[in-house]
Amino acid sequence: MIFRMIYNVCLPLYVFFVVLSSSVLGKAIYVPLLSGLGILLVLSIFIDQHQPDRVVLFTLLQLILLFAFHLVSRLDWCFLLYILLLYRVLLQVRSVSRSVILSCVFISVYTVARFTYTNPSIEHILITGSDYLAGISLALFIQHILTSEKTMNLTKERRNREEFEFEAEKNRVLGELAAGMVHEIRNPLTSIRGFLQLSKANGYSIEPWYDLIYAEVSRLNELTIEYLQISKPSEVPAKRQNLHDSLIRVVALTEAEAQKMGHRIVYEEFDPELTVPVSQEKLIQVFMNLIKNAMEAMPEQGTITIQMTQVADMAVVIVKDTGTGVQSTDRQRIFSPYYTTKNNGTGLGLYICHKIIVDHGGTMSVSGKQGEGATFTTRIPLFIDKG
Ligand SMILES: Nc1ncnc2c1ncn2[C@@H]1O[C@H](COP(=O)(O)OP(=O)(O)OP(=O)(O)O)[C@@H](O)[C@H]1O
Ligand SMILES: [Mg+2]
Repeated sequence: MIFRMIYNVCLPLYVFFVVLSSSVLGKAIYVPLLSGLGILLVLSIFIDQHQPDRVVLFTLLQLILLFAFHLVSRLDWCFLLYILLLYRVLLQVRSVSRSVILSCVFISVYTVARFTYTNPSIEHILITGSDYLAGISLALFIQHILTSEKTMNLTKERRNREEFEFEAEKNRVLGELAAGMVHEIRNPLTSIRGFLQLSKANGYSIEPWYDLIYAEVSRLNELTIEYLQISKPSEVPAKRQNLHDSLIRVVALTEAEAQKMGHRIVYEEFDPELTVPVSQEKLIQVFMNLIKNAMEAMPEQGTITIQMTQVADMAVVIVKDTGTGVQSTDRQRIFSPYYTTKNNGTGLGLYICHKIIVDHGGTMSVSGKQGEGATFTTRIPLFIDKG
């Protein structure tokens, strides 16, 4: 808006002012010629605004017209017109050296025109020096503004990109959490279904499993609460939890399903004293996933062996099966999200287990030759009483 006002209003007025002053002062060589050149100059600037791809041509034309206008007007006041034209050109240039050269060209044209009606004297030579310095300063000043503007745009762009990436990451985590929740809810539901199927098939009363079923329903509830707290960062509870108690519960919860599939679960070695700073829900989540995977990896009747010991300041839990085993090339991949070889698998089970253990400062790895069963080794730092 202001830019347009300068070139559509101020500049034509200034041209008119120069024509008037030059005529009044009797400096103009030929007033009608001066007026004609002034009109052509203003017109070329008007037309130029609608021809953005012919900048060089119009700049050259305007400089020639201005030079002629200056020659005929014989007034130093034309300097402002050179500066206004130069300013427009400099806005298009993105190089300090090129803009300095352009300024010198404009000032040189002005100086040549000026010396056609002034006698070279020390004063005029000094004025010429000051004109060059003014032109160069203008060029540098405009470059400074353009560079700052560019930096500001880049910063704004980076901020927008960061915001976009943050949103994308948030959506990814939300999607992962939702998928994780569905995955984890399936496990307690499978256990409850196992109890019900067993009792229906054999006519058992489910009364002895009331507590287990109740505990599983509570776990479902806790899982949903936990996943609803998605906006909170995952905090590691420092509460002491007996590992043996949790493993006994895992065995009790998976036994019915194992029995149905013809498998055996043997919890053969343990240390009842070991405690770890991991909540029982999380421990159950981890080991249920490992046992469920083991059951699914054994096409024939098989055995799942669980051992728990202490090695240095770590509790070590080994879950071994007699199933298909894991290929050496897949040993790292199986802990990645969405890696699955099952038709209805999500590939999130081991990813979640691994993440829980790593979040608590532990490790999880798999070993065993393919075809000879898999052995999952989980190491969890023991609970240290800081009180
Ligand atoms: N005990 C095991 N023996 C052999 N392969 C296994 C064992 N446990 C896991 N795997 C391999 O690792 C893959 C990933 O396991 P993960 O528990 O993450 O997902 P999934 O079991 O395929 O799906 P979901 O857990 O949703 O049922 C499995 O598809 C399987 O190929
Ligand atoms: Mg699984």
